[in-house]
Amino acid sequence: MTVKILALCGSTRRGSVNRKLLDVAVRGAGDSDAEARLVSLADHALPFYDGDFEQEHGVPAPARELQRLLAEHDALLVASPEYNGGYTALLKNAIDWISRPMATGESGVQLFQGKVAAVISASPGPMGGIRSMLGMRGVLEKLGMLVIPQGFSLAAAHQAFDADGSLIQKPVETEVRAVGAKLVETARRLSKA
Ligand SMILES: Cc1cc2nc3c(=O)[nH]c(=O)nc-3n(C[C@H](O)[C@H](O)[C@H](O)COP(=O)(O)O)c2cc1C
Repeated sequence: MTVKILALCGSTRRGSVNRKLLDVAVRGAGDSDAEARLVSLADHALPFYDGDFEQEHGVPAPARELQRLLAEHDALLVASPEYNGGYTALLKNAIDWISRPMATGESGVQLFQGKVAAVISASPGPMGGIRSMLGMRGVLEKLGMLVIPQGFSLAAAHQAFDADGSLIQKPVETEVRAVGAKLVETARRLSKA
């Protein structure tokens, strides 16, 4: 079975270290014959979730598109940057919108349930965004995802990549790629269960 992975980054910043880390993990998934689609939230600009907005205007088109993308994929790979000890509002807002009712009226939470996920993070700081990574794991678990224990938080991330976007320390590159590979392996096992 070809596992289809949706990769989301919680930063849209040019030169984002989380995006670079996500690219490495996506390559790891590719090594295991998965099909990975990296989606930038910059291409799915959303208003901040507001119940009144939803009632008046419905679920916006970019959220519908993200719902459709998640529905088409078996697994979710998330790079979660850390702002003030937590995940970014950008990422959480996208997840909140995806969880709202689909066009069919069914809950968007269904799109997450029973699917497998992995979370990684990168920060220039010494903790590599681990608090964000752990917080994001909790959000995805609340939505019914099976979050694999493998993850990676990359410290001193601003110095960690070479010009080609590979990690300078090869054992680190191997470990991050292994997160992508483990995600694929787990999704494959689940599909057979
Ligand atoms: C508002 C704000 C708060 C931040 N708080 C933290 C923090 O709590 N821990 C941390 O490790 N880095 C923190 N940072 C630094 C980010 O990790 C850094 O900007 C990183 O490059 C963001 O990810 P990106 O490169 O993928 O955009 C903060 C940055 C901003 C803008």
